[in-house]
Amino acid sequence: MWGGRFSSRPAEIMQAINVSIGVDQRLWRQDLAGSRAHCRMLAKQGIIAQADADAILGGLEAIQSEIEAGTFPFRDQFEDIHMNVEARLNELIGEPSGRLHTARSRNDQVAVDFRLWVRDACDRSVAQLKALQAALLTRAEQHAGDLMPGFTHLQTAQPVTLGHHLMAYVEMFGRDAGRFADARARMNESPLGAAALAGSPFPIDRQATAAELGFDRPMANSLDAVSDRDFALESLAAASITAGHLSRLAEEIVVWMTPMFGFASLPDDLTTGSSIMPQKRNPDAAELVRAKTGRIMGSLVALSTVMKGLPLAYSKDMQEDKPPVFEAFDALDLALVAMTAMVSALQPNTERMAQAAGAGFSTATDLADWLVRELNLPFRKAHHVTGAAVKQAETLGVDLSQLPLEEMQKLEPGITEAVYKVLTAEASCQSRQSYGGTAPEQVRARIADWRDRL
Ligand code: ARG
Repeated sequence: MWGGRFSSRPAEIMQAINVSIGVDQRLWRQDLAGSRAHCRMLAKQGIIAQADADAILGGLEAIQSEIEAGTFPFRDQFEDIHMNVEARLNELIGEPSGRLHTARSRNDQVAVDFRLWVRDACDRSVAQLKALQAALLTRAEQHAGDLMPGFTHLQTAQPVTLGHHLMAYVEMFGRDAGRFADARARMNESPLGAAALAGSPFPIDRQATAAELGFDRPMANSLDAVSDRDFALESLAAASITAGHLSRLAEEIVVWMTPMFGFASLPDDLTTGSSIMPQKRNPDAAELVRAKTGRIMGSLVALSTVMKGLPLAYSKDMQEDKPPVFEAFDALDLALVAMTAMVSALQPNTERMAQAAGAGFSTATDLADWLVRELNLPFRKAHHVTGAAVKQAETLGVDLSQLPLEEMQKLEPGITEAVYKVLTAEASCQSRQSYGGTAPEQVRARIADWRDRL
């Protein structure tokens, strides 16, 4: 493509370090779309003849068929997807192919291709997040009233419902989808027409190509258009936060599935066995979702590091933008779909969860609150009395709800039989009617809100 100035072919190592077709051939659809829009615009503006444009568009069509049929020759010697397409175009239609690159550079070409790809990836992530949210909503509805222990520090804290717990993830994944949507809205400007870095002397119509490619408008600065990759970084940041949420849910599934917890299981088809220990049923999919987070977060660090010291405008460093983005979204795709399958198939052991919900003095706060409400004790005093009651129950080897009234009265004479009504896990959950609280009515109301929003 630049033979005029050169007297020798690239060294083997030059080609080896420079070649990117193995990675960026994934951009072929976007590359063809960008070339079509550019070609039509060139003809409409009278920059190339309509007959040449028609030949180019026909050639691009043929290339698309070849790629779809698996017969397109992707060749290392042509470095990347852009030059592979152009080289093939030349083989197919001859001279007019050389007119396509008028008023264009690979710098704005790759920027537009990559933006289109990342834009699709964001849309796909939003759709997959919505599917995951829908699966969680269904399960939350089924278990809106089923008790489980809520934890802080992974120590029994207060009873909640399984529905409430699952709905916490619906909120997280809702914000994640919002981050992808925000990133998409911000990235939806076209770099095409920035050319190498300074714009073009030809009477190009950047608004027209932007509109044809579904962009809201052309980017306003040609240097920025070819040298920034913040759209990719922002999508990786959204992916990283999503992956972090997926990892937390995956971790909980792993913990719930340990025989010691025994809170849930997954069906055979979503678990694996051990080649030596016959009793095993391993939550590999959950573990791998947890682990994919490493790749995804690593990709954000990788691309941030590539970009951080680059002078304007384009530097070849930026060719290294694609592997981390492809890797991150491949991992995220798998993780989101696998998590949706696990959420749909999860078999909670509601009896075991309910039993655990009432154990571990989980209603101690309810006792303290009762002392405040019924006996007008200051909360700090009530906290102290309740602590002493827990200690006594522990000594006697009983739960709070089984601690005899006379034992309670030794600590606070005003306590009456009525206190036992608030000491069950069920009553504890029922009472938490504050907006966003764990009471089943609240949980059902939030589920209804989300059904409207999805
Ligand atoms: N393969 C290159 C990339 O992915 C395309 C842009 C090349 N531009 C250049 N000036 N060498 O970044």
